[in-house]
Amino acid sequence: MEKLRLGVNIDHVATLRNARGAAWPDPLRAALLAEAAGADGITAHLREDRRHIRDADIEALMAGIGVPLNFECAATDEMAEIALRLRPHAVCLVPEKREERTTEGGLDVAADENRLAHYIAPLREVGCRVSMFIGHDERQIRASARIGASVIELHTGHYSELHAEGRPDEAEAELAALRRAATLAHSLGLEVHAGHGLTFENVTEIAAIPELRELNIGHFLIGEALFMGLGPAIEEMRRRMDAARA
Ligand code: PXP
Repeated sequence: MEKLRLGVNIDHVATLRNARGAAWPDPLRAALLAEAAGADGITAHLREDRRHIRDADIEALMAGIGVPLNFECAATDEMAEIALRLRPHAVCLVPEKREERTTEGGLDVAADENRLAHYIAPLREVGCRVSMFIGHDERQIRASARIGASVIELHTGHYSELHAEGRPDEAEAELAALRRAATLAHSLGLEVHAGHGLTFENVTEIAAIPELRELNIGHFLIGEALFMGLGPAIEEMRRRMDAARA
């Protein structure tokens, strides 16, 4: 099986920084450390409310990191303007609600197909790889292919919750749905990524899905950094991902 790329999401370094309004911990420093520990890319979500990552962080990451930046954002005019100006390697479109603690579900591409097709066309023209963060629903996968997305990222949050709550049968059913979704997306020519809620405990089954090319992992790694350090946490995640595909 082809090696999986690991994208490290550094949003929550900014969460910690913003909790005190200080200049540290610095998300760019974390990104450089992640890169040195073997991350293949850095992911950062610029939310409309700027609750963690800020505009200046995105600019600093673009200028400072040596691996590709995956810019996560909602499909708004403001974010299109930023992405078209900065031209990150990848743009991952996610649904966003102000009241949510994290990205709770996938994007409803099927319900917004026309608008999203027009939204991503200029991003593709300037060379960004556009990704849709969606659930495993066949309609969303087919709509993503129709609008010209290069990539889908499958939302693994529900699987992660079922796993953590000790509901193995439901977790297995969710995993099976994710596997079917990856197969379908791959057959439609989409590159398949996955992420949300992944940990040392639940990453193996996800990483073993053959069609996947990339995982994006943040919250767990940043938390684990408190105990084992960010570099070792990333190395351990990498080891588990590689072992799952051996
Ligand atoms: N992928 C996407 C599209 C996300 O929105 C997030 C969370 O910001 C992640 C991956 C990473 O999720 P987590 O922080 O739970 O690892």
